[in-house]
Amino acid sequence: MKDSPGLTPLITTTQIRKRIAVLAGQISHDFDSREPLMIVSILKGSFMFTADLVRALSIPCTIDFLQASSYGTRRSSSGTVAITGSITVKGRHVLLVEDIIDTGLTINRIVDHLRLQQPSSIRICTLLDKPAARRFPCTPDYTGFRIDNIFVAGYGLDDRERYRELPCIVAVER
Ligand code: XMP
Ligand code: MG
Repeated sequence: MKDSPGLTPLITTTQIRKRIAVLAGQISHDFDSREPLMIVSILKGSFMFTADLVRALSIPCTIDFLQASSYGTRRSSSGTVAITGSITVKGRHVLLVEDIIDTGLTINRIVDHLRLQQPSSIRICTLLDKPAARRFPCTPDYTGFRIDNIFVAGYGLDDRERYRELPCIVAVER
């Protein structure tokens, strides 16, 4: 861990590893008879979670990426979501892999965007959930950890592009 002032450890590397093993077991069980599962990783924040999650799955999958930006360099949602990347999901069982669901705006926009292509199903897996911050309804199918309405970084998540490389989740003091 970086020895930076203003960072408080919140979720350890070991806790993340153990939780991912459980999530991967549930997902592998739920999608056992359907194949192959289409993983859609939402960049940039979910790159590390996706890499660890897919390695823990015991079913075949394909892996695609979309980039969604709602925050820019600010710590509060801008209210608009830009989605970049073209993927084909028609007839596929899609698992969206997110780093964190906050207001719910980003994930709702992505689901609406992909539904136009008529996938067979869309489910949502998020490492972190901040239910107290929700403004747009969303209930993830798979959740790593529920956290309070605080700003966090590490394990792929950033604070103005810093701390993505940390192997654990930290609370960032404002
Ligand atoms: P919404 O509000 O659309 O936000 O659900 C989802 C996206 O916002 C970013 N986000 C965070 N990023 N620490 C971060 O590093 C946080 O505490 C945080 N809260 C929201 C994130 O990119 C997510 O995909
Ligand atoms: Mg971010």
